Amino acid sequence: MLEHARTRTERLLEPLSEDQLAAQDSRLQSPLAWDLAHIANFEELWLVRQQGRAAVAADRDGLYDASAHARSERGELPILAPAAARAYAGDVREAVLELLPSLPLDGSDPLFERGFAVGMVVQHELQHVETMTQTLALAGLPGPSPYGPPRVDSGGEAAVPGGTFTLGSTDPWAYDNERPAHEVDLPSFQIDRAPVTNAEYAAFVEAGGYGDRELWSSEGWAWRAVEDAVAPLTWQVDGSSYAHRRFDRIEPLPLDEPVQHVSFHEAEAYARWAGKRLPTEPEWEKAVKTVGGELEHATGAVWQWTSSAFDGYPGFRAFPYAEYSEVFFGDAYRVLRGGSWVTDPLVARPTFRNWDLPQRRQIFSGIRCARDD
Ligand SMILES: [Fe+2]
Repeated sequence: MLEHARTRTERLLEPLSEDQLAAQDSRLQSPLAWDLAHIANFEELWLVRQQGRAAVAADRDGLYDASAHARSERGELPILAPAAARAYAGDVREAVLELLPSLPLDGSDPLFERGFAVGMVVQHELQHVETMTQTLALAGLPGPSPYGPPRVDSGGEAAVPGGTFTLGSTDPWAYDNERPAHEVDLPSFQIDRAPVTNAEYAAFVEAGGYGDRELWSSEGWAWRAVEDAVAPLTWQVDGSSYAHRRFDRIEPLPLDEPVQHVSFHEAEAYARWAGKRLPTEPEWEKAVKTVGGELEHATGAVWQWTSSAFDGYPGFRAFPYAEYSEVFFGDAYRVLRGGSWVTDPLVARPTFRNWDLPQRRQIFSGIRCARDD
């Protein structure tokens, strides 16, 4: 699995020049060379030094500590050049492969029980593959193959009966924020079988959705004005003709694909226009766990905004470090569920919780609507 993650990283970055890897195109994203050395540094911290081994490069921790430097300032840091970052990642991986057979997987160290720290390092790299793919999309650089989400075939709604279900995970590789698993009671509700398509979202644009105050929260209305938003981030609207920018290409908008690159505010306004609402986070997970067979692209197409703020489940305990989840708890962030077409299946489990600011739309985010019975 470590090798699988590394192959994805290498394939994604392979078409890029050293200059493209070193540059910071948008202050929303890190230079790709920062991501690469940060992946290596994280792996070194958790798999090499935790085992009491000597550091591969002890002087780099500050530079590649995500909580020490906001993304916006990472372009000004004295980071490793791409070739040196690649070499660092290779050196760390060599040390890890040597150590793997001696990791204490017997339960004597909770960090390594059932391979937890290895799973964390694998998922961390795969999550950065997605972050780096966002960087490529924003900068208009070549993307991966396939380079977009699968199309949508179905419509209509699925009925989710009322009653209890288990929210959260007991998977040994699940993150702290997915635990502890616990019973939650919900009334019945309806959820759309499929994510909202570009065609459906275009109908909202054409109906004047972006200019209708009634559809937006006050925060969303203010965001729309500041951002001058009239359509999703990558769209180019010319009368009734729609194109979009996808990585390094401009192409006609594929009408049967799920809409992508919408903010929480846009998702909320669309749902209101459609006479529906966004699902809460427990509703989303219950739908997948109980009527998942009726849902199309529950995972692996686009992240789906929920109406829930990011918070710890009852009995939450930060593990193995507070900076993964706990420091983000509170009203500022909204939860997204389901994983996108870029998210690796190792990460896109139905209990996985992603979170972001409500104005963000460089992410591969879309919409699945719900409504009360
Ligand atoms: Fe990271």
